[in-house]
Amino acid sequence: MNKAENPALDALLARIDRQRVPKHVAIIMDGNGRWAQSKGEERIVGHSNGVRSVREALTGATEVGVQYLTLYAFSTENWNRPRAEVDALMDLLVRTMASELEELMANGVRLNAIGDLESLPKSCHDTLMESMRATAGNTRITLTLALSYSSRWELLRMVKRIAADVRDGRTSVQEIDEAMVDRHLTTYGMPEPELLIRTSGEQRISNFLLWQIAYAELHFSPVLWPDFDKATLFNAILDFQNRERRFGLISEQVNP
Ligand code: FPP
Repeated sequence: MNKAENPALDALLARIDRQRVPKHVAIIMDGNGRWAQSKGEERIVGHSNGVRSVREALTGATEVGVQYLTLYAFSTENWNRPRAEVDALMDLLVRTMASELEELMANGVRLNAIGDLESLPKSCHDTLMESMRATAGNTRITLTLALSYSSRWELLRMVKRIAADVRDGRTSVQEIDEAMVDRHLTTYGMPEPELLIRTSGEQRISNFLLWQIAYAELHFSPVLWPDFDKATLFNAILDFQNRERRFGLISEQVNP
């Protein structure tokens, strides 16, 4: 459906203040399994239908001027799911990255990934690297896939790297500060997410970007991920724009 045929979406879009769009939106995509099971289908059918929602999130984010979109696609804990589901998900990721490359190029999307990428199957790892190389020059929006990612994995890696730097004399305990921690995280160079969305009605963070979301606004949507669309995203952004972000200050200080 093109824009002219969807006045309800246009009306939502018109309410968004383009000067206050979050630079970085992170999403915990949840509910694929439940969506499929409610239709009497295998869980993987939910994941396949979730690809359309990824497209909706990406095009919606690009349309309103979000510069970074980060999606929790596969957690460290997801490796413990039944082997058939893990294999099917990896296969889906490879096929999607390959089939969407042209679209990513046409829309100025730079593909990025965070997580223990070395633990991915070779075909997934190679396709990912190839797509990241191909899109490296794009500047409209950065799409980051969190793959084999968990925040505790990332924080442990950061602690070990800083400890090794102290041990080997490259830095000292006194020099450790927030900026140094940031430099050792997989998200280094990105602004912190200002808005974190989780779908499916669950109200948990599930080991996602724990350091980075210190001041993020949290938006929990009851929508199951395969039903997520631009309207869900725009409503989350409108909710974000109605919040007063105080960063520890009082209301009169942020609104003098
Ligand atoms: C959570 O639903 C979703 C996932 C673990 C996988 C997300 C993957 C996709 C949407 C596939 C395509 C992704 C990209 C980036 C191309 P769940 O299985 O935990 O659902 P449940 O809580 O209902 O069981």
